[in-house]
Amino acid sequence: QPHIAYSGDQLHVEGVRLSELAREHGTPLFVYSKAAMLSALAAYQRGFAGRQAQICYAMKANSSLAILQLFAEAGCGFDIVSGGELARVLAAGGDPAKVIFSGVGKTRAEMKQALQVGIACFNVESEAELDVLSDVAVGLGKKAPVSLRVNPNVDPKTHPYISTGLKGNKFGIAHEDALRAYQHAASLPGLKVVGIDCHIGSQITDSTPYLDAMDRVLDLVADVEAAGIPIHHIDFGGGLGINYNGDTPPEADALWAQLLAKLDARGYGQRQLMVEPGRSLVGNAGVCLTEVLYLKPGEQKNFCIIDAAMNDLPRPAMYQAFHQIVPVQPRSGDGVVYDVVGPVCESGDWIGRDRQLLVQAGDVLAVLSAGAYCMSMASNYNTRGRAAEILVDGTKAHLIRQRESAFDTFALEQLV
Ligand code: LLP
Repeated sequence: QPHIAYSGDQLHVEGVRLSELAREHGTPLFVYSKAAMLSALAAYQRGFAGRQAQICYAMKANSSLAILQLFAEAGCGFDIVSGGELARVLAAGGDPAKVIFSGVGKTRAEMKQALQVGIACFNVESEAELDVLSDVAVGLGKKAPVSLRVNPNVDPKTHPYISTGLKGNKFGIAHEDALRAYQHAASLPGLKVVGIDCHIGSQITDSTPYLDAMDRVLDLVADVEAAGIPIHHIDFGGGLGINYNGDTPPEADALWAQLLAKLDARGYGQRQLMVEPGRSLVGNAGVCLTEVLYLKPGEQKNFCIIDAAMNDLPRPAMYQAFHQIVPVQPRSGDGVVYDVVGPVCESGDWIGRDRQLLVQAGDVLAVLSAGAYCMSMASNYNTRGRAAEILVDGTKAHLIRQRESAFDTFALEQLV
């Protein structure tokens, strides 16, 4: 990651020293590189050169307003999964006409809100949802644009919690039921069928499941169109992985060169395309700075206790995920092997296990690859205010979210 690198003896994000940001703003502190996000986006843009394609950032990966603003200004639409995310898109100046709405459990109120602002498409995940959406749209005198999320039943070979395109999970409509669901959608008065959609999982590092899923989806496009229902766009979801620990996912442009070759070979190359990348646009563009509070040697384990915890960085606790942890100002010498843990009162509150580090209390560490699914999944567990966030642009560091105070965490509560 060229935008997050050591220069001299100091880790920088672009032109800004992380030790200085930690001193000025305190820790835990998320720091993002604008250039890294735009360069990740550029790989998709290169991949789609000469095609009709809309990149809809899956904002659940990091939904901070300034990040949404950056992607909106770069021409992106958004993949949302709640009315709350739609409100964020609008607050950040995003174009509702480039919004697609995914998720298995949209409420009537959310459907109404999305129809009123005129989103591009609802990615519908069940026949029951088709009926409700049609009803809501008829009530507003509108036709809801819909795409069906189909389940290609391929194994993305990722963590079971983040694989979504297999039979037996809650997402999507089974391949064999899809034609019937399309016929049902086409018969409903409040709907207009516009597309097909799939999303097979997340942190996918191999192209094979994507290529297999594309074949399955194109088989369905052919069947549905043969039944007289035109499919205007093909949405291929998100899921492309990033390098956390020596992972070698394909680049977005290389992956899409393979996928587009398949589309071209089957005569679908000039269709409107959509993608919903999240992690691959932001994951490696962010770090979380944290201070070493205490070193606690032990008989079986040494602990390095830091001021960031599972409420700030939930991925290790939830998925046993690996994030690299490095000092922002390395010391010279050998290190000691530590479990790096937070202050939260749970044994599951670890950020890294068996890490060789040469540190002292007061040192600042950077947890890498923390741009995706960290701040957006942060909680207030143990009444810990959520961290502050900085967006770096060259030598400028913009504070894009203030640190949450204890008062903020209970501001909506009242005594009886
Ligand atoms: N589209 C849909 C319908 C999705 O469900 C998701 C992610 C995406 C797009 C974006 O996927 P991405 O490009 O980011 O892989 N919290 C987990 C990841 C959950 C992903 C949920 N869906 C983690 O931290 O690994």
